[in-house]
Amino acid sequence: MDFPDRRLRRLRSSDALRQLVAEYSLSVNDLIAPLFVREGASGPVPIATMPGQFQHSEDSLEAECHRLKALGLKAVLLFGLPLTKDAVGSEASNRDGVMQQALRRLRNTFGDSLLLISDLCLDEYTNHGHCGLLRPDGSVDNDSTLVRYGEVAVAQANAGAHIVAPSGMMDGQVRAIRQALDAAHHEMTPILAYSAKYASALYGPFRDAVDVEIVGGGNRRAYQQDPANFREAMAEIDLDLAEGADLVMVKPALTYLDVIAGARARTTVPIVAYHVSGEYSMVKAAGELGYLDVAAVAMEQTLAIKRAGADLICTYFAADLAEALQ
Ligand code: PBG
Repeated sequence: MDFPDRRLRRLRSSDALRQLVAEYSLSVNDLIAPLFVREGASGPVPIATMPGQFQHSEDSLEAECHRLKALGLKAVLLFGLPLTKDAVGSEASNRDGVMQQALRRLRNTFGDSLLLISDLCLDEYTNHGHCGLLRPDGSVDNDSTLVRYGEVAVAQANAGAHIVAPSGMMDGQVRAIRQALDAAHHEMTPILAYSAKYASALYGPFRDAVDVEIVGGGNRRAYQQDPANFREAMAEIDLDLAEGADLVMVKPALTYLDVIAGARARTTVPIVAYHVSGEYSMVKAAGELGYLDVAAVAMEQTLAIKRAGADLICTYFAADLAEALQ
């Protein structure tokens, strides 16, 4: 009698055995929670397109950070929503702008026990909604934008950011920000570069969350990456590393698992994946309809992102996952 090879199922026979031989696992240390702070808000405002997420006031932001810290999370990624916007995004570098106020307060409260990562971009602060300054013809001007990014980086670091995270996809942004930070004596502030950031339809709910509308129904395809390209992402990562990126990000996550794996194979620096608003909202919406188990899907998707090669994951599920991992 010829018996089948049972080595695969044999190791799947109990929870304990499955856990013992698991190749990957998710830890609360892997998770970064994105948070929004809105100038002038008197309390948390629910974001309609992202059930369970809020535009926070300064007070509710601090309360949420206490909750996240108690759950064991080590880092938050902050986005600021200013009351006033203009052509150059002045509020992004204003010492008393919404992001800087929030950073100062959280850094005072939490010191180094909760890492503050500041999204570094202009789109929430410009009245045209683009990530950079515009030329008279309406196109985004790379090099004058770099000067602004340097100013924003220094304002954020001065206010208490532990890590700055440029997300604007301008050429040369990592070098410009590194030089500006070094010149302002922030040589120890790391840069988390959104290196491979695709022009994705999955950012839809986020634009609602931050009240950003691109002028004239425009889009970001002239600076964010084309979803058709893989090699180009490797080139972006190489350039950002050469310019001094300390960590690199791939964004979105699930539709770009090949890019995460490619990044992992290419560099020794930490790889961060951003499980974006659309990825979150799709699961939440299906959950509300009773089509799937949100907690189980969130865990499976996050584990898939780790398996592809990410060290860290920015996800709106961070608090729920941290609770499940208790
Ligand atoms: C730009 C920025 C965006 C996101 C993070 N930073 C939006 C965009 O590029 O249009 C998207 C995040 C998400 O969808 O969760 N500042």
